[in-house]
Amino acid sequence: MVEVLSNPASTRKLYIESYGCAMNFSDSEIIASIMSEHGFSTTNEELEADVIFLNTCAIRDNAEQRIRDRLKHLRSNKKQNSDLIIGVLGCMAERLKDKLLEEEKLVDVVAGPDSYRELPKLVAEVDDGGRAINVLLSREETYGDLNPVRLNSNGVTAFISIMRGCDNMCSFCVVPFTRGRERSRDPESIVKEAKELQTAGYKEIILLGQNVDSYLWFGGGPKKEFKTLTAEEQETSVDFADLLELCALAVPNMRIRYSTSHPRDINEKVVHVMAKYINICKYIHLPAQSGNSRVLEIMNRNYTREWYMDKINMIRSIIPNCGISCDIIAGFCTETEEEHQDTLSLIEWAEFEFSYMYKYSERPGTPAAKKLTDDIPEAVKGRRLQEIIDLQNAVSKRKHEALIGQTVTVLIEGASKKSKDDWMGRNDQNNVTVFPCEHYQKGDLVEVLVERATVTTLIGKAIGKVS
Ligand code: 5AD
Ligand code: SF4
Repeated sequence: MVEVLSNPASTRKLYIESYGCAMNFSDSEIIASIMSEHGFSTTNEELEADVIFLNTCAIRDNAEQRIRDRLKHLRSNKKQNSDLIIGVLGCMAERLKDKLLEEEKLVDVVAGPDSYRELPKLVAEVDDGGRAINVLLSREETYGDLNPVRLNSNGVTAFISIMRGCDNMCSFCVVPFTRGRERSRDPESIVKEAKELQTAGYKEIILLGQNVDSYLWFGGGPKKEFKTLTAEEQETSVDFADLLELCALAVPNMRIRYSTSHPRDINEKVVHVMAKYINICKYIHLPAQSGNSRVLEIMNRNYTREWYMDKINMIRSIIPNCGISCDIIAGFCTETEEEHQDTLSLIEWAEFEFSYMYKYSERPGTPAAKKLTDDIPEAVKGRRLQEIIDLQNAVSKRKHEALIGQTVTVLIEGASKKSKDDWMGRNDQNNVTVFPCEHYQKGDLVEVLVERATVTTLIGKAIGKVS
């Protein structure tokens, strides 16, 4: 996913491109906010930019390859405008640090996810003729006090980052190294941001964190482990279920979504809060990564196949129609054919609405890169991935087709990609739904009768607005 942000106004022009996960898109809004306070307005015309920032992803090798290709393209912009400043921000910047300045000669600024407040200073250093880098990670930075600039948004849905970093150390994952230690953001600032978005006319918030279920704030500040809290602190602490409830009550007319949950940590308290409030969407992104317990163990996921299945049973016993989606990695180190079959059978059993599916990509410095051998041939990884995709597509289609003849409640996000005469939105379970615009408006919550279904989309007709 690539998105270009724009917010025309003031003096020097900044062009930001975001790659990768929702957290990066949310960070770009924080970056725009910091830069706007220092006289930079955003543009979506890269050729008129004085500064170009690529907010990057390092999760798989192909994500980094895309950035390198993009940087090669930007060489010609620099030829046309020798004052142009190019910055690489985010996870790839954090991973490669000053190597990026050496490898990619045209990069002027390198900034990791915790050093965005320094960006104006780093740009000023480049103005003075240098090249600038800050990749320090922090244990405290949450950017909680900043007002993200909502750019190129659909005006309906907005991200709110509730925590940063990750302490999980899944063996395949570079995120703990690029985004640092987990820290939670002050719940008051989260609720304030939600209310401001409601006042500004937004209809939906998406609370973001790498592992939202371990969100924890106690009276005086963010703290990780319950066991280190005093009894009084435990009493006043805010966990993720509490935060969800605070948001549901604070913005009763907005829909609330969140991502990402961890199967080890998701608990009944969270699911009960979801069930209690009509404005919390009945949808959970619950990455399994694999359906085999041995593979899960070497992935350091801290749960088994049975534990994962129990969590799904728990969710569906409380919210029978809860939408559940998944992330799957094909061809992790030493995965056998039988273990791959376990992943397929989990997909069939769990009936995920959809999954994000990837081939394993070894990331330098991760525990898997250090201790395990990336021994599954590329062709085998490709074939296993294709089998996973084919099965998930069949499951998604079946689930979508089961909704034909039913009505679903959809928040209109904007025009459908295929036709400006159709609206696109999502139902509670996060299924993309498309229907003729008629007299309905962007931001309306409408009941849609489902008439047809594809692997990715429900297609129907609006039958009325939800009052
Ligand atoms: N190779 C392939 N996929 C990965 N992910 C994370 N690290 C890797 C990797 N090294 C996937 C996981 C995670 C999602 C965000 O990206 O499925 O949940
Ligand atoms: Fe990576 Fe695991 Fe943290 Fe997700 S939970 S960001 S996969 S280490």
